[in-house]
Amino acid sequence: METRALHVNAGGGYDIIIEPGILDRAGEHIRRTLPGAKRLFVITDSHVSPLYGARLVASLETLSFEVHTHVVPAGETSKCPGQLVALWEWMAGHGITRTDAVIALGGGVVGDLAGFAASTILRGVGLVQIPTTLLAQVDSSVGGKTAVDLAAGKNLAGTFYQPDLVLMDPETLGTLPEGVFMSGMAEVIKYGCIWDREFFDFLAARPSRAELTEHMDHILLTCCDIKRRVVEEDEHDTGLRMILNFGHTLGHAYELAGNYTAWSHGQAVAAGMAAAAGLGEKMGVTEPGTAERIEAVLAPLGLPTRIKCGAEHIERALGVDKKSSGDSVTLILLERIGAVRRVKLSRADLIERLAGEYGR
Ligand code: NAD
Ligand code: GLY
Repeated sequence: METRALHVNAGGGYDIIIEPGILDRAGEHIRRTLPGAKRLFVITDSHVSPLYGARLVASLETLSFEVHTHVVPAGETSKCPGQLVALWEWMAGHGITRTDAVIALGGGVVGDLAGFAASTILRGVGLVQIPTTLLAQVDSSVGGKTAVDLAAGKNLAGTFYQPDLVLMDPETLGTLPEGVFMSGMAEVIKYGCIWDREFFDFLAARPSRAELTEHMDHILLTCCDIKRRVVEEDEHDTGLRMILNFGHTLGHAYELAGNYTAWSHGQAVAAGMAAAAGLGEKMGVTEPGTAERIEAVLAPLGLPTRIKCGAEHIERALGVDKKSSGDSVTLILLERIGAVRRVKLSRADLIERLAGEYGR
């Protein structure tokens, strides 16, 4: 697998470098990108640290950086205000300056939390994302959304803060548990659905982890390039970027209904995409047969295509959906595979359609 690179024109502009083994060369890339940085604050989690922490730190120390590491417990509960405050105090206690940088080593939880910490400590320091899950590589490490969860809902406090550099080592995906890998695949399939029919067909023809892993450089590059284009046009999520939410409106309701434990985000999004395609077909927006085609790609990967949830969860999910404003909600539907349409509906109308179709 050769090196692949993209440049994102958002924030100050930054490179995404995709290269097997790049973890061992991270120091060189960071030195080049952030020549003024002396101290690096590595934020990682309790699963990733023993797998990749030492390799990353060795690569940074070879370049004479002063490296500090903070390990949060693995899992969504670490994406919370308490951890954010702990990170601020830890960085301030080690004398962080504005030319220093935060390194996020891990999945989307670490990326979102570390990104928020980097964007707020001293009103903003350097940020390097080193994503180690498929979801983080194709989605959360690119585009600058940072967040922590509040009691009222997920991702309710956060910032837009683009990284200075994103380093992806596809080899780190080899240690992902099956469920976490497939959760990321739901987002990969989403890109095919909303943007690229050829890519969707490419995925459809490779219905196993082994076959997908063989083509991981192509998969990562394609997804990151689509995300790059969307973010460059709508960095602050006021228009086009909403299309990345395809499958997420119902997905959020499913996650809520399962108390965030029964279904992973990717599983919920998978069923949400199938449901949104079915709804689009019923509304006459989506080409007939689209839901069936999406289900045929999801099912062999063990991703669910149907999840039942109560109308109250749909209402609650819409209540905290950042894609809603006032009384209307923007629903992301497909015209066909590869072509998306934003449809504005009243909240009441949408709840009735979704609950009638998918509620208990
Ligand atoms: P995660 O960060 O919790 O990682 C999933 C699990 O995999 C964790 O247990 C983690 O410790 C483990 N892990 C990570 N890398 C590993 C590796 N290489 N080998 C073995 N285990 C590894 O979850 P995620 O799915 O990566 O991210 C989900 C989070 O991302 C959510 O909080 C979601 O809100 C956020 N998100 C953010 C954006 C954004 O644009 N900022 C987009 C999508 C999702
Ligand atoms: N993951 C959705 C976004 O970045 O907008």
